[in-house]
Amino acid sequence: MTKKIILDCDPGHDDAVAIMLAAASKEIELLGITCVGGNVGLDNTVNNALKVCTLIERTDLKVFSGAKKPIHYDLFTAEYVHGKTGLDIKGDPIEVSSSYKAQEQDAIDFIIETCKSSNDQIYLCPTGPLTNIALSLQKDPSIKKNIKEIIFMGGAAMCLGNTTPSAEFNIFVDPHAANIVLDSGIAMTMMGLDVTHQVNVNRQIMNYMEENNNKSSKFFSELMEFYTIFHKELYETEDTPLHDPCVIAYLLDPSIFSGKLVNVIVEEDSELTRGETVVDWLGVTNRKPNCFVMDKADDKKFFQLLKNKFATLP
Ligand code: RIB
Ligand code: CA
Repeated sequence: MTKKIILDCDPGHDDAVAIMLAAASKEIELLGITCVGGNVGLDNTVNNALKVCTLIERTDLKVFSGAKKPIHYDLFTAEYVHGKTGLDIKGDPIEVSSSYKAQEQDAIDFIIETCKSSNDQIYLCPTGPLTNIALSLQKDPSIKKNIKEIIFMGGAAMCLGNTTPSAEFNIFVDPHAANIVLDSGIAMTMMGLDVTHQVNVNRQIMNYMEENNNKSSKFFSELMEFYTIFHKELYETEDTPLHDPCVIAYLLDPSIFSGKLVNVIVEEDSELTRGETVVDWLGVTNRKPNCFVMDKADDKKFFQLLKNKFATLP
């Protein structure tokens, strides 16, 4: 049974790999790619999604433009990680044909319409700030009944943040959206830094992927060569966490990960800890468990899956 998904993203080098993994998987019906302001501004995240779909020869995939900025805060971007365009690579940028553009329909309306019209339950797979998802739920709460699960990349349960000492980027950018989604009552799975830092890219992994000997796997290495620059400086190691594809890998093979159903609530306004995911891992509060938080990943299985799927791409 194929899983119908909407991939909501802010490409972003790791979002790009998530798009490619989803598109390569027969088990997934990628209903649409909705973009949000995050790593870079919305125009660039949309354009980068179009670039990735062009590279893998999937200009049949529909790309939608969503929220430019978080619900309350100004947009905070990460050009320091992803470069000016958000998908900087050493080689020539991908040219997108003028006939391949974002859909006219707004991402929020696409999410609502798709959830309402689908007979099957939809998986929402956000890998950027949760603004589009939150706005869709606020605009039409009735879509909840058609959403099977929200599997999101974001947060940090028991490890340091990557944007402040206590906050991961996606949740830091729009903490209000994160709480709206966490409070929705929909089945939630959190692929936070705890697990994404267990699936690290390095030169060895790039060589492993390039054994596929196709342009998509070569592009993977081009993306990672740029993406590892910032991480080497921050983490002082060649190993770079491959965050966003964990969402799609979980959908394809949940056995790669393990975790626990706990309560997660996000700090919204504190100057010091805005965006912190406060994860009640030990159950010391009486707050209702609302999210399956992953804390372990099998990186060998993860990269075997990634390589096998990328082998099916052009
Ligand atoms: O903290 C990592 C997350 O923030 C990833 O989704 C990355 O693409 C950025 O959006
Ligand atoms: Ca992202």
